Amino acid sequence: MFRLDGKIALVTGAATGIGQAIAVALAASGADIAIADRNAESLADTESLVVAQGRRVFKTMIDVRIIEQIEWGVPEIEKHFGPIDILVNNAGINRPAPADRATVEEWDDHFNTNVRGGFFLAQAVASGMRTRGWGRIIFISSQSGLVGIPGQPIYCATKGAVIQLVRTLGLEWAKDGVTVNSIAPTFVETNLTRQRLSDPAFRSFVIGKIPKGTLAEPGQIGAAAVYLASEEAAMVNCETHRVDGGWTAW
Ligand SMILES: NC(=O)c1ccc[n+]([C@@H]2O[C@H](COP(=O)([O-])OP(=O)(O)OC[C@H]3O[C@@H](n4cnc5c(N)ncnc54)[C@H](O)[C@@H]3O)[C@@H](O)[C@H]2O)c1
Repeated sequence: MFRLDGKIALVTGAATGIGQAIAVALAASGADIAIADRNAESLADTESLVVAQGRRVFKTMIDVRIIEQIEWGVPEIEKHFGPIDILVNNAGINRPAPADRATVEEWDDHFNTNVRGGFFLAQAVASGMRTRGWGRIIFISSQSGLVGIPGQPIYCATKGAVIQLVRTLGLEWAKDGVTVNSIAPTFVETNLTRQRLSDPAFRSFVIGKIPKGTLAEPGQIGAAAVYLASEEAAMVNCETHRVDGGWTAW
């Protein structure tokens, strides 16, 4: 079960953290992986990890905020590597600022990265998936799209938008064999969160909110992506799969 042999996946924001773990998990399950990030050099470690799984890898630069790079990057991957069966919209940013200090620039950068980029990537891969009658589109949303977290209103709004997007895209493309889902992790220690989690007060607030009492691990998000990408998950659509140790249940 959950084999992805013969499939090609594109993972954005694959240089580090959760994106890297997802690329490795999909490769370990048999998929060949196109990895994208803001600059191609940053992808060297992920490239080696995918190759170590015995899979083919294709590195490309896509800054998801730049529509021209999406319009150029997706056909480039499909021409040189093969048709994209699985898209993981993982690229994301979170620069916390309370509402009274939030700026228009920060609003636009967060929405352009976390929402607009993923939407237009989904649009770019969906036509081929629908023609072929099979596709999996997975967004990395967040528990921050399901509950409020003080100090990061813009980030929470972007992730709520992602959760609504997967519901609607999944409805539009379901008949053509394409599912659209998201994964909503709790806190994972990565470059995105390391500095905040190094503050003992913040760390104990976070751990205190997670009934399991531990942070999530990148590989646990990778495992959820493998499931959602699999044939066995064909009836899972428009769903947000929580990997939050119970945070959002109370
Ligand atoms: N770490 C957590 O606690 C956590 C929790 C819930 C959800 N998430 C989500 O998981 C995803 C990955 O986060 P992470 O923790 O691995 O962060 P990270 O900062 O370690 O990695 C994010 C990656 O995305 C890339 N990226 C950022 N902006 C980009 C852009 N415009 N175009 C292309 N690539 C871009 C970065 O270069 C980086 O490689 C994000 O969408 C994030 O919101 C993270």
